[in-house]
Amino acid sequence: NTSPIVSPSILAADFANLQTEVEMLNQSEADWVHIDIMDGVFVPNISMGLPVCEAIAKHSKKMLDVHLMIVQPEKYVEAFYQAGAGLISVHYEACTHLHRSIHQIKDLGCKTGVAINPHTSVELLADVLQDIDLVCMMSVNPGFGGQKFIENTYRKVTQLRELAAKHNPNLLIEIDGGVNLANAPLLLEAGANVLVAGSFVFSSPNPLQTISDLKKLTVK
Ligand code: DX5
Ligand code: ZN
Repeated sequence: NTSPIVSPSILAADFANLQTEVEMLNQSEADWVHIDIMDGVFVPNISMGLPVCEAIAKHSKKMLDVHLMIVQPEKYVEAFYQAGAGLISVHYEACTHLHRSIHQIKDLGCKTGVAINPHTSVELLADVLQDIDLVCMMSVNPGFGGQKFIENTYRKVTQLRELAAKHNPNLLIEIDGGVNLANAPLLLEAGANVLVAGSFVFSSPNPLQTISDLKKLTVK
């Protein structure tokens, strides 16, 4: 029995003490650090950009899992790779030429993800699954931390795991938004294997323990 990959979302951290937060994650059982990039156009919020990503990379011992919630992500993919990203996810809904954007990331030697909004059907990924490492499945509408988990996600995970069995059995399925210890076991049972958790980790009394509790779960 393997544990899930845990990727705490730095969006929920204390931005005035980022170095301390990154060092806390270094000491934790977290596998990756999830970095939410928002442009105020693709999503109704602005978070952080390249300099902050670079600053996190300077202190982080964990792989940076960069989630681009921006329009025209192809313009910035290389810059985020240079800024320390180990995995870059672009949104299905933001890419007119998704196949090209995927290969742009792959050609950099970077792990490649595609993120999908709650309304986007997993079947739309059938023709690119073989080319990517990960699907970042949004379980809230992107733009903000601390939102309520959308229950329909379980069904989508089951469907995506079935589709991946045909096209890419090693596909990582990452769940992003409202993840906690109540829904995580069900998500893993449905076929997910990567958990993003923002407010659940950083608002908990003991983030190190909360990360460890998520790591104690088992993937299917
Ligand atoms: C939402 C972001 C998520 C968010 C998760 O737009 O993509 O990664 O930080 O935060 P929680 O776990 O608080 O929902
Ligand atoms: Zn995210």
